[in-house]
Amino acid sequence: MTILRDRIEGLKKEFGAAADRVEDSKALEDLKNKYLSRKRGLITGLFDELKSLAPDEKREAGKQLNEFKALVEERLKSYSDSGKLGLPVKPGARSKLTPPPGSAFDLTLPGRVRRAGAAHPLVLFQEKIEGIFLAMGFAVAEGPEIETDYYNFEALNFPPHHPARDSWDTLYIKDREDLLLRTHTSPVQVRVMEKKRPPIRIIIPGRVFRRETPDPTHLPMFYQVEGLVVDEGVTFAHLKGTLEFFIRALFGEKIRVRFRPSFFPFTEPSAEVDIECIVCAGKDKACRVCGGTGWKEILGSGMVDPQVFKNVNIDPEKYSGWAFGLGIDRTAMFAFGIPEMRFFYENDLRFTRQFDLK
Ligand code: FA5
Repeated sequence: MTILRDRIEGLKKEFGAAADRVEDSKALEDLKNKYLSRKRGLITGLFDELKSLAPDEKREAGKQLNEFKALVEERLKSYSDSGKLGLPVKPGARSKLTPPPGSAFDLTLPGRVRRAGAAHPLVLFQEKIEGIFLAMGFAVAEGPEIETDYYNFEALNFPPHHPARDSWDTLYIKDREDLLLRTHTSPVQVRVMEKKRPPIRIIIPGRVFRRETPDPTHLPMFYQVEGLVVDEGVTFAHLKGTLEFFIRALFGEKIRVRFRPSFFPFTEPSAEVDIECIVCAGKDKACRVCGGTGWKEILGSGMVDPQVFKNVNIDPEKYSGWAFGLGIDRTAMFAFGIPEMRFFYENDLRFTRQFDLK
């Protein structure tokens, strides 16, 4: 080994020890000048000495010197990259926030956007309905989605085999004829009246199930909200006034509403409530939503049948009451001006993100 190559080896060790001792940016700068300065740097001096060597020797020593220079540069760069020593960070270099190599976090990386979750439009709409009734002094109750035949039908005055059952296409639990997926929220009326004495003023939101072929305004699973008021001296005028107030609070003062006589075994008299078709406003004879009538039913209602009161031991001579059951999905569809209820269940984020009722 030539003297030059020995000296390179010696300087390599010396540099390593000096680099280990570096503690601040001043020491780093000094070390950089000592080895790499263009004019007085040790490495620059060694390159000058190379020139006087024989070609073979020159090649070997030159290779060794280049490696040493690369090592010095690499080591000094690792200090400035880490920013640990408070060195100015060059444009394009990583900032002081960059942790030492091997650390699990790199605070300089761009953040990951986390989109906040949002309530489903039907949930928002249900909350809006609840808000209107809570403001009128109603409370919120709930009941089971799997019901017994008794609560879904019998206690509501549908005797077994009564033809009125045919209008509710029911899904039964396999091998359990007495259990079914509730077809409406009305069974919870009975459950509440069994436990609570009048005065009663509640709403009951929840999921219901029917064997239906989906179309723009029918689904096999949808949401209803039930309402029930029981007290002394309650009349149909209270039913009408409350429901009109509610519908105007939801759709605005100008909405056209109509009450139509109807039949439910558990109310007498009964009425269905229609609102004007928001999709075609009665102008499209072929409207897929209202069938060209210009009206769409959103709820069923009526005065609680005395037989239902008897089933829950409430005296029909003393108390009277009214009830309603509103389709939340169908009403939401009109409130949002959507021509198709199925959109609510497709979970296309481009659709669901458009709703903010606050
Ligand atoms: C009932 O379910 C009665 N329980 C309502 C009631 C309650 C009457 C209390 C009297 C007293 P009906 O089957 O008409 O009634 O349904 C009520 C509402 O649910 C309808 O007006 C409609 O808005 C909605 N609805 C009915 N079937 C569907 C369906 N397949 N898909 C979506 N919404 C529906």
